[in-house]
This record gives sequence, C-alpha cells and structure tokens, in this order.
Amino acid sequence: MSEQLPRKKRILSGIQPTGTFTLGNYVGAVRNWGALQTEEHECLYMIADLHALTVRQEPAKLRRNTREAAAMLLAAGIDPARSLLFVQSHVPAHTQLSWALSCCTQFGELSRMTQYKDKSAKHPDNVNAGLFTYPVLMAADILIYNADLVPVGIDQKQHLELARNIAQRFNGLYSPTFTMPEPYILKAGAKIMSLQEPDKKMSKSDTNANSFVLMTDDADTILRKFKRAVTDSDGVVRASEDKPGVTNLMTIYSVFTGKDFEAIEKEFDGQGYGAFKEAVAQSVIDGLAPIQGEYKRILEDKDYVDGVLKQGAEQASRLADRMVAKVYKKIGLLQL
Ligand code: TYM
Repeated sequence: MSEQLPRKKRILSGIQPTGTFTLGNYVGAVRNWGALQTEEHECLYMIADLHALTVRQEPAKLRRNTREAAAMLLAAGIDPARSLLFVQSHVPAHTQLSWALSCCTQFGELSRMTQYKDKSAKHPDNVNAGLFTYPVLMAADILIYNADLVPVGIDQKQHLELARNIAQRFNGLYSPTFTMPEPYILKAGAKIMSLQEPDKKMSKSDTNANSFVLMTDDADTILRKFKRAVTDSDGVVRASEDKPGVTNLMTIYSVFTGKDFEAIEKEFDGQGYGAFKEAVAQSVIDGLAPIQGEYKRILEDKDYVDGVLKQGAEQASRLADRMVAKVYKKIGLLQL
C-alpha cells in the first residue's frame, strides 16, 4: 500500500528586464529562487517583459535586456532541469486572465498601491493605464499557476496582498478556483538599500550609479562603490535603526559570508569603516565572480538561452491555458 505523496508546493516569481540586475534583485529575490529548487517544489520563473512596458522602453534594448536577463538568471543558478524559465509575453494566457481579474479589482485598491504612486510621481509625463493596472497582471502571473509561494523582496509585498484579495474575491464570487499565494520574503536582505541614500531602496533606475551595484560590475567598480558608500560619523560597525548605511552593509556582508551581525560586530570591533567597507566589497566580488563567469559563457550561446525560454514557454502555456479556459467558463464566457 503506498501512501499518497504530498503535492509539491508551486513557486512562481518574476523580474523585469529593465537593465542589468542589481545586487538588491539578487539578494532580495533571485538568490532565493535558486535555493527553492528542491524536490518539494515546482518552480516557475518569469521575465516580466510586459511589466517593463509600463515605463517607456527602447524596443531593441528591451529585446537585448530580455535575453540578458535570461542568461543572468541561468548564471545565478536557475536550472532549467528543475525550473521552468520563460518570458511573460510568450505565455499570452497571462494577459487573458489579467482582463478577467481586472474586472474583479477596484479602482480604489489600485490607487492605494505605493509603487504606482511612486512611479507616477517619477514619470509624470507617462502615467499610463498599464502602470495603474500593473498589479492585476502580476496577480494573473501568480494565480494562473496556483502558486503557493512567491519569493520576492519586501517592495512587492503590497502587490502580493492585492493578488490574495483578488483571488479571495474571485473564489467567493464564483467558486474556489485560485490557491491563496503566500509571500516568501526572507528577513535578511528583503530590502537592500541604496549605497548613497541608505533610507531608499537600491534600484537600477536610480540616476546615481554609485547608489547600486550591478551584477556585472567588475571588481574595481564594486570596491569603489562600497568605499564611497554613505555611512555615518561614529565609526562603529554596529547594526541599528539610526545607522541605516552601516546596517545595510552589514546585511550584504552577512548574506555573502553567512556570518551573523554579532560576529560581524566582533570582527570589526575598533577597526573603523575603511577595513569594513573593503571586506564587504571583497565578499561581494568573490560571491559574484562565478556568476559573472557563467553569465559571459551563457550569453555567448544565444541558441541555448532561446531554447530554454522556448521550452519554458511551451510548458508554462500548457498550465496557463488550462486555467484561463477554466476561468473563462466560470465567468460565463460562451464556449463553442
Ligand atoms: P522587479 O523587477 O522590480 O524586482 C525583481 C525582484 O527583486 C526584488 N528587489 C529587491 N529586493 C531587495 N532589495 C532591493 N533593493 C530590491 N530591488 C528589487 C523585488 O522585490 C522582486 O522580487 N512586479 C515585479 C515582477 C513581477 C513579479 C510577478 C514578481 C511580475 N510578475 C509575479 C512576483 C510574482 C517587479 O517589478 O520586480
């Protein structure tokens, strides 16, 4: 007599191909994507090119960035033998579900999204409807696969809560259809801060290039950026709320070395910030080196990257199409 195996947990996450990923993307999200590829999970990872359109994109650059994003995800440990890796626009069912869900989402809910408020303030000349409905498409990305867990950084938490509300509303209006997705946000590194303004999130759209580290930055650049990182004037390596710059560097060092804050405080006791910053930079340089090597190698093999994406899209489409058919039927769209 065989016991029934528990259902594998389904993992879904996405990242926008708006340029080279930052250390924040890696620490807050992508690093966890790789780690979740275990026997207990079924992983789907997506390059959110449709989401990228909410900000003006140069077509040729977007195409290039999308392939580079795939190569970087593969280099950072996404294994196509254990995960589906695909491009959002290659699975049209996401947008098909998005429309149905947008009719179950209130205007008021969307206007409360802080990312919408921030981005519309940042691009006042392009407050487009896509920017406003972006979280509905994100909900569709998640709900279409009945994802159980969504590994993201803390800035995506509000969008995830909205996805849960939409799922609950739909399930209540029709019948149980969508799984309630849970955010998977690790405490350490869920929000890596800007190196120049440590009360702001590290972001690749920052106009000051010293505020972020890119996954492709060379050793000299990484060292220079960390040496210039804004700290404070008391010269003590200690984590605390009133020391956001130092705490951010400690978080990064902790992620790359596995040391906890107490050990880090001891290690740099009485040493000042110079040695500390150099050590943080070195830990990042060492941590990124193998990924950078792989990235260069993989990017040269365009056919391989495209093959992975093609296969990912085919398999994801099979799952996603089934869900859209189910939803369209439930909401009363005529089936022939
Ligand atoms: P995006 O492309 O802005 O970011 C990708 C992931 O990186 C995380 N992240 C950070 N984590 C820690 N510190 C930072 N400074 C930092 N900056 C970014 C983000 O939280 C995110 O997890 N809407 C999403 C993409 C998306 C998606 C989805 C995610 C589309 N559909 C479905 C999950 C599920 C976005 O724009 O992420």
